[in-house]
Amino acid sequence: MKNIVLIGFMGVGKGSVAREIVRNSDYIAIDTDDLIESMENRKIKMIFEKEGEKYFRKLEKHVAKWLEKSVHDTLISTGGGFYMQENLKKIGTIILLDSPFEAIMKRIKEHPNAEKKLKKRPLLKNLKEAKELYNERRSGYLELADIIIDVTNKNPEICAKEILKKVKKYA
Ligand code: S3P
Repeated sequence: MKNIVLIGFMGVGKGSVAREIVRNSDYIAIDTDDLIESMENRKIKMIFEKEGEKYFRKLEKHVAKWLEKSVHDTLISTGGGFYMQENLKKIGTIILLDSPFEAIMKRIKEHPNAEKKLKKRPLLKNLKEAKELYNERRSGYLELADIIIDVTNKNPEICAKEILKKVKKYA
């Protein structure tokens, strides 16, 4: 079994889809943001505030190298900027969770924990800048993806099932 790597913009639902994949398969899941937070023993928000984005990207690079070398048969959910790592394609089958910017923001705002979700993501602070970031990134996401899943208005369980059906070909 090759690793499955979920990529996509902040708030698109990588975490929720990962949890549904785990519920419907034998995969164990890890999350690059969680790995970084435990490595650093502090929250992503704090890392951005105290050290800046460049430092955070270095931590992602460290994680990316470790994933390539040491992690197998695993579902890897990533932070929205992790796709920039040079060795991404060597880590596993890349699955893009794709949705228009407006639909992603709607999804976050309708969540019962909307405020918390926005607060913990430094790059979502300014809506205009977040939209620009989305526009800058989208072609990169599409280019890297082995499989593209349109998640707009679909619940995580349906997305997870779609992914599990499609990855069989890549196993
Ligand atoms: C980031 C996305 C975040 C987190 C960090 C930076 C990004 O993860 O890694 O705040 O650059 O898009 P989520 O995609 O889980 O929000």
